[in-house]
Amino acid sequence: MSLSLIAKSIKPSPTLALNEKFAILKAKGNPVIHLGGGEPKSKVPMDAILATSAHLNTGEIRYAPADGIPALKQAIIRYTEEFYNRKVEPENVIASGGAKQAIMVALQAILNPQEELIFPVPYWVSYPDMARLCGAIPVPAPAEDGTFYPRLKDIEDRISSYTKAMIINSPNNPSGAMYSEEFIAAVVELCEKKDIYLIMDDIYHRLIFDGRKPINAYKYANNLDENSKLIIINGVSKQYAMTGFRIGWAVANKKLIEAMTNIQAHQTSGPSVLLQKAAVGALNGLQSSVESLRTTLENNRNVMMDMLNSFDGVKITKPDGTFYCFADFSHYEKNSNKLSNFLIEKVQVLTVPGAEFGMEGYLRISYCGSIKDITEGIERIKWALDLNSPNELYIGDRKLVRDWA
Ligand SMILES: Cc1ncc(COP(=O)(O)O)c(C=O)c1O
Repeated sequence: MSLSLIAKSIKPSPTLALNEKFAILKAKGNPVIHLGGGEPKSKVPMDAILATSAHLNTGEIRYAPADGIPALKQAIIRYTEEFYNRKVEPENVIASGGAKQAIMVALQAILNPQEELIFPVPYWVSYPDMARLCGAIPVPAPAEDGTFYPRLKDIEDRISSYTKAMIINSPNNPSGAMYSEEFIAAVVELCEKKDIYLIMDDIYHRLIFDGRKPINAYKYANNLDENSKLIIINGVSKQYAMTGFRIGWAVANKKLIEAMTNIQAHQTSGPSVLLQKAAVGALNGLQSSVESLRTTLENNRNVMMDMLNSFDGVKITKPDGTFYCFADFSHYEKNSNKLSNFLIEKVQVLTVPGAEFGMEGYLRISYCGSIKDITEGIERIKWALDLNSPNELYIGDRKLVRDWA
């Protein structure tokens, strides 16, 4: 079969593939624990449910404007004022099918073939393939000191005459690292100086711990007029536990939003009106669920840190936010795909290999699930890797015997 060069360059999404694997193993009755997930387990806010069902009950579910219904744009404008202290107009806003589509249409509106997109390492799995979907070139920028906190120089060194845009995701998936105010300020300044688009992927910006406050990139921008190349991405998926609703957005200059709207109009005609209503409900409704999710995640993180600290061979950096821990397991196995498969096969625990995020030897372990799953999952991993632990492990009434050294 003849496929396009772009189609051939794209890999399946490793995280979505893992969800499928989990569903298959579970359906077969396996006692599998998913520590590779990327979604909170809390309930969708009631205001979102009521808003969706009210619209559904009208029986008239029609096409909507490709860039989002006015009520959602208004809710996003209010959100931008509250969290970014910035007044924008409806023409500065586009609602998309998840933050994922908002980023994708932004990149399609910006990138020409062969141009370059820079992002720090470790990075969200989709960034490289999103660049490739535009025929552009992904340029990962690892921190020279091997940490999750790049210095400006690490990024600056990767800028070439082909560099068109940069994506910064903080707090970061997979590391949970929240970059410093100084770093964000310096990146904003650098992008303005070099005339590069800066995409701030803020999807986890309220899910942060230890008293931190969300960072607002606008605060450091000198150019806030309609030529500004700063793009803010956000959405309801993570903070409101609404991953299945697929609503995200971008805030940017009007010309760019218009171009993104034209692209989105031909791709999907915009997100479903029903799901946009749900997002309006969540954004305008009671906000207590966000804080309750945040505190649950902070507690889960602490439990996971305590457990991982008890491993002799695991190196961890305490996550500042998100619901991921990116731990260095290279003491046990340098090939993260091999290690992740080993843990599924031997103890039925799913994790995401670090190689997918640009760092070999690491595993991404999520703490968005229940405390029971977290503790049992990590105990199983410890049993599989720590050869000093007893030779046998019970999963329910199933006895596992270690037959590897
Ligand atoms: C860093 C990052 N950006 C964007 C997204 C996409 O979010 P959405 O579900 O709104 O498309 C994710 C989801 O995993 C993510 O981790």
